[in-house]
Amino acid sequence: MDGNGRWAKKRGLPRSAGHTYGAQTFRTITRYCSDIGIRYLTVYAFSTENWKRPAEEVSALMKLFKQYLNEALTDFKDDSIVVRFIGDTSAFSSDLQELIERTERESAERTGMVLNIAMNYGSRDELVMATKLIAEQARDGKLSVDDINADTISSHLYTAGQPDPDLIIRPSGEYRISNFLLWQAAYTEFIICDKLWPDYTTDDLDEALREFSSRNRRFGGV
Ligand code: IPE
Ligand code: MG
Repeated sequence: MDGNGRWAKKRGLPRSAGHTYGAQTFRTITRYCSDIGIRYLTVYAFSTENWKRPAEEVSALMKLFKQYLNEALTDFKDDSIVVRFIGDTSAFSSDLQELIERTERESAERTGMVLNIAMNYGSRDELVMATKLIAEQARDGKLSVDDINADTISSHLYTAGQPDPDLIIRPSGEYRISNFLLWQAAYTEFIICDKLWPDYTTDDLDEALREFSSRNRRFGGV
């Protein structure tokens, strides 16, 4: 969900205002994805590198996360959306962690779209975590080194049990992956959209899905 800061700057507003508008887009796009039958949606809300931002911006984002999760708890109540968090959420304040746990718990039994919210997520961190878990099992004799394969790695990531993404859409015209789902995205289709995230609409998503469906995916075959 990139481009909130630039969106605000263009309007002479503080960056935090861009995040507030971006949060509204998040809500619209999430609801739309669920309505049209998307099974898994992952949004990149906060990366392991985003802590480098000015303290004022980080605290504005934390405030927004709290407000949004509180709203999501009531807002998504009659919804079928399963909310999951990917990333190291132990770095957040205890009240935010509590909200994260409550949101996951209260939506766990639902059967609709799985919404992964990536918070304090970084793909390299995720792979380090998985490597440690696998190494511990090998050390303790629970896993033989010869049995380690790609599935072993996939099943130790935050996204364990979920399919690899079919499509990644990056708004704001940046041509980078920025430490997002590096392992999972081995054969993911990539679409760059020039629009800044607060301006992103359901029509833009429809257009991306049309383009996606016209792509010829070969997964390394012919
Ligand atoms: C939102 O966009 C991404 C978050 C980390 C919340 P940015 O804040 O990266 O906006 P730009 O890239 O500076 O425009
Ligand atoms: Mg950015």
